[in-house]
Amino acid sequence: MTEHTPDKEPSVTHEVVPGSADGHGHGTAVAAHADLPEQFENPGLPPHIHRHGDSDEKAAKRSELQVVTMFGLSMLFTILFIVSYFAIDEDATVTLPLSGKVAALHTALGVTLGLSILFIGLGAVHWAKTLMSDEEVVEERHPLRSDDETRASVVATLAEAGQTTQILRRPLIKMSLGGALGLFALPLGLQLLGSFGPMPRQDLEKTLWGVKLNGQNRRLMRDPDGTAIRLSDVTLGSVFHVLPEGINDTEHPLNEKVKASVILVSLDENKIKSQKQRDWGIGGVVAYSKICTHVGCPVGLYEQQTHHLLCPCHQSTFDMTEDCKVIFGPAKRPLPQLKISVDDEGYLVGDGDFAEPVGPSFWERA
Ligand code: FES
Repeated sequence: MTEHTPDKEPSVTHEVVPGSADGHGHGTAVAAHADLPEQFENPGLPPHIHRHGDSDEKAAKRSELQVVTMFGLSMLFTILFIVSYFAIDEDATVTLPLSGKVAALHTALGVTLGLSILFIGLGAVHWAKTLMSDEEVVEERHPLRSDDETRASVVATLAEAGQTTQILRRPLIKMSLGGALGLFALPLGLQLLGSFGPMPRQDLEKTLWGVKLNGQNRRLMRDPDGTAIRLSDVTLGSVFHVLPEGINDTEHPLNEKVKASVILVSLDENKIKSQKQRDWGIGGVVAYSKICTHVGCPVGLYEQQTHHLLCPCHQSTFDMTEDCKVIFGPAKRPLPQLKISVDDEGYLVGDGDFAEPVGPSFWERA
């Protein structure tokens, strides 16, 4: 065992560096700082390679056309977005590989909007890479706050930006970029406005009963059979769920159904307390809107003994012998009555629309 003698240690600092001194490129080597220079020389920048467009005006023109084409494609896809918004049916579907069946409208809106913004981005990048100034600039480190001279030079640089980006020299790019960005804002506003939808008030004021069919009042048809009802079919105490004739031929049968559904009941005429109710019916046969005036559930439960109509949602109860006024529950107004009569062939028909809007009271006149 040898004794450690610090006095005889060489006065050189060692460190472990990754390297290949072991001859295999994976080991470590001990290098002496004494061999390293005090300071490395700045290797500088690699030689600058000029682009075609810097020296060849034809190449620059080609690049300009490519940029304009990309901005033009962006405009095209924005216009296609707007066309799709109006032209494609909400219920239409399309089958795509991997995804299967998807909504055609949303697919078209997503694809066109995505391509629109993609081509704006591609155009801007291509413009920057091929036409904007390609000078390499070295900026020395300096205190965070710029001195006055530098600040002035920044302002001057900004002022020169129009020149260096060539936007002033190339008005086509300026116009096409302006068009692409301007049009791109349209879909956002369009979606906002389109999402408001139609004003509901007008819709609720009208039902299919007010629209004549071939110039005639519409017959009362059994729901769901779709067969017409003769007055003679309606025996005392019977109840029919009714829809207007021709409802399935309308553009939106379900929308019509939620407004025009009716319940037809045959009462003992002597038990009817309201003269108007008698006048709007036929010998005790009366028809009322089936849409609850609370929040619009179908009022379909009829109690034959008490002549009460019950809404299953929140138990609003309507008295059929007194113009369907509310006798219990949260509904605030009676069910509207449909005036009925009999046509030449003995079938029940509606005499025009309800006199007031059907359904929930919160839509009621302000
Ligand atoms: S919807 Fe009929 S009581 Fe609420």
